[in-house]
Amino acid sequence: MAASLPNHPQLRGNYAPINFEASYNDLVIEGTVPTDLSGSLYRIGPNPKFVTGAYHWFFGTGMVHAFHVEDGQVDYVNRWVRTPKFERETELGHGLSLEMSINKETGQIESHRRNGVANTHIVTHGEHLLALEEGSHPFSIEPTSLASSGYGHYADGINGAMTAHPKVDPETGELHGFGYMTDHFGSNTMTYHVIDKRGRTVRSDTFEAPYAAMVHDFMITRDYVLFPLFPLTCDLSRIEKFGFPFAFDGQAGAYIGVLARGANVSTIKWIEAPSRYVFHYLNAWNDGARVTFDAVDFPVAPNFPNVDGSIPAHADAQGKLTRWTLDVKTGAIDRHRTLDVASEFPRIDDRFTATRHRHGYIAAASKRAKGDGGLFHEITHFDYETGNAQTWDAGFGNGVSEPVFVEARGDAKEGEGWLLATVYDHHSSTSSMVILDAERVEDGPVATAKLDHRIPYGFHGSWRQNK
Ligand SMILES: [Fe+2]
Repeated sequence: MAASLPNHPQLRGNYAPINFEASYNDLVIEGTVPTDLSGSLYRIGPNPKFVTGAYHWFFGTGMVHAFHVEDGQVDYVNRWVRTPKFERETELGHGLSLEMSINKETGQIESHRRNGVANTHIVTHGEHLLALEEGSHPFSIEPTSLASSGYGHYADGINGAMTAHPKVDPETGELHGFGYMTDHFGSNTMTYHVIDKRGRTVRSDTFEAPYAAMVHDFMITRDYVLFPLFPLTCDLSRIEKFGFPFAFDGQAGAYIGVLARGANVSTIKWIEAPSRYVFHYLNAWNDGARVTFDAVDFPVAPNFPNVDGSIPAHADAQGKLTRWTLDVKTGAIDRHRTLDVASEFPRIDDRFTATRHRHGYIAAASKRAKGDGGLFHEITHFDYETGNAQTWDAGFGNGVSEPVFVEARGDAKEGEGWLLATVYDHHSSTSSMVILDAERVEDGPVATAKLDHRIPYGFHGSWRQNK
């Protein structure tokens, strides 16, 4: 029997999980769904069914939501990701501590990386649909029903875990990923993975980083792979001090590991970088030795303590879109702010991954106030060629998800297409999927597919085109 959940800020309001799985055909639509839009929008986020002991939003069991779009009609389905931990909790009727249970003697993670929470990103690669979370292996999901297939169907041979932010190179079709703390929890070992479209491991090579840190995202360009290491460091002795091993250590320095594509990991060069924190990168490209990348750049790591246990000031916990340039030969780095608005969840037209992009899309919060739960109420398009930003405001108090770009046609020019996102309406406590014209974001949704229930705030999502 499921017990009520503890009183915790990340289990209240629209952070609270929903306790059902549903399938709805033919959602009510306001506006008109473009008839050439044919595929599925997937969203994923934490949705614990059981919570026992301490809770953190990052560790809630994943739930997937799918909007299947075809012929102007939208169907919806949601399902929990049935990891072994979730199945066991369901059998027992109570929560278990995170099953990457760590051997206190060796630091080894004893789950073989196949018992995580699968709650962070859902991506497609070839025929595979994968629920990802950075402490574990990829978890396969059936694309229509969202039935759980499980671990081991994709990238079976990788060493350690895989990031929730792999990059598919549009030119080669290969997926590039990485893992951190590969040898054991708290170790400075990382692994670089390349997986082919059929899900076979091409390479999975382990290397040492300057220190052990939480590394959420990375970048590829045509010629380089970049492993940014910002100082959200891991020290197991902090667990006794403030209950958690990760803290922002402004004195630790920061580095960007640069690997030439195809080269041995022993040749990675660690370039010193300004001490910032970044969860997500929009994209990166290189012109010779000069790499340009766009990041949501924070002064410190938000949602984590500093090394003295203090919590970051509100102003320091706001990330803003920032363009970095890095000369991989000289190590020179330059940064400038692109958009002076608190923002997160940056996306591009994915066909331009690893090459120069003109358009960026992001969830933004120009009216953010202290204590509002860190919500994003706007979707913004930034044009790097003109410097113009266009914004649609879903209304302060409502929450928008990461905007996912879908090209209008295979041969559409960059940025010609749609932005798909979910929106939570705090008045009705329901959610919807909105479709915006990516070239006319200010006009607001061309279509809104409405649910009778809410989708709890989650992390990331993707589009899967119907064949
Ligand atoms: Fe993320």
